[in-house]
Amino acid sequence: MEYRRLGRSGLKVSVLSVGTMTFGEKVEEPTAIRIIHQALDAGVNVIDTADVYAGGESERIVGRALEGRRDKVVLATKVYMPTGPGPNDRGLSRHHVMQAVEASLRRLGTDYIDLYQVHRFDPEVPVEETLRALDDLVRQGKVRYIGCSNWAAWQIAWALGVSERLGLEPFVSVQPRYNLAHREPERELFPCCLQLGVGVLVYSPIAGGVLTGKYRGGEAPPGSRGYQNPSWQQLRLTPRNLAIAGAVERFAAGLGRPPLEVALNWVLANPAVSTAIVGSSSPEQFAQSLAALEWRLTDEQVAALSRAAEAAAGEAGG
Ligand SMILES: NC(=O)c1ccc[n+]([C@@H]2O[C@H](COP(=O)([O-])OP(=O)(O)OC[C@H]3O[C@@H](n4cnc5c(N)ncnc54)[C@H](OP(=O)(O)O)[C@@H]3O)[C@@H](O)[C@H]2O)c1
Repeated sequence: MEYRRLGRSGLKVSVLSVGTMTFGEKVEEPTAIRIIHQALDAGVNVIDTADVYAGGESERIVGRALEGRRDKVVLATKVYMPTGPGPNDRGLSRHHVMQAVEASLRRLGTDYIDLYQVHRFDPEVPVEETLRALDDLVRQGKVRYIGCSNWAAWQIAWALGVSERLGLEPFVSVQPRYNLAHREPERELFPCCLQLGVGVLVYSPIAGGVLTGKYRGGEAPPGSRGYQNPSWQQLRLTPRNLAIAGAVERFAAGLGRPPLEVALNWVLANPAVSTAIVGSSSPEQFAQSLAALEWRLTDEQVAALSRAAEAAAGEAGG
């Protein structure tokens, strides 16, 4: 297993992380636990969850899966999304952060979180208020590192400046969506992260499964995320995304490798990326992601695949 430094922090993360968004909903507990153990046995050390995944069930399952193995893991969870109907049951106020962390610790069955990530930017809370609350959690030993998710480059740069000015814990990471069909982070976010030493945990590296090639012709196979899910189909099975998936499939065929391996390796080839958080419905699926780590695309192949995907997107009108 390859490990990378998470930004300028001293923390080492495996290049592959376990995504648990569907654990406790689509993926039942015994399967989820098998996937987590399979990952840990292969040297994966990052498990990514959130307080809201499966209404908290994902955190509970992760906690149970880690019994006896907790100290080897970089356990990452998140706060921000609504956890109740009240006006303070959401967001990044000190009030909600302090309540949410206790609830996550209880569900996870642990007394510390390795990486506590703010799930979104909250324009209604002064960034100082959030950073001071997170800093307090680090001082209390409840959280070891702090990160953000879905923040823009300017928001991160601003927050880092505030942390420095006030002597508070800095964000060590950001978690953006990044894959061959969504390359926006390359424009501002990744240069910002490389310059300021912020680690990147990529989510949706295979575009929710679209880049595995299983949605060929826009058809969602039974059991897949897109099956009987019109809103997901409308959002993800666009002509542009399907054209890119087709380009990945052709490129992968030329290499004699599955498209998933090629798509995942393309993400990992970006120097800003610390780890790719992949979701899996079964140990068999996760095994395919692990197989991607057995080889790497060359720089020329990365460039050629980028061009092929761009050309396919262009032809599809996007
Ligand atoms: N910070 C955020 O806002 C945010 C947002 C989204 C996700 N995340 C994190 O990132 C993780 C991954 O996100 P994601 O699930 O959207 O991304 P993904 O890794 O791009 O897609 C995972 C999905 O692809 C399908 N798949 C995986 N391996 C496959 C294989 N070998 N063959 C065929 N299909 C395969 C599975 O769906 P099916 O089997 O159902 O088709 C699986 O759930 C989440 O679990 C979560 O931890 C964070």
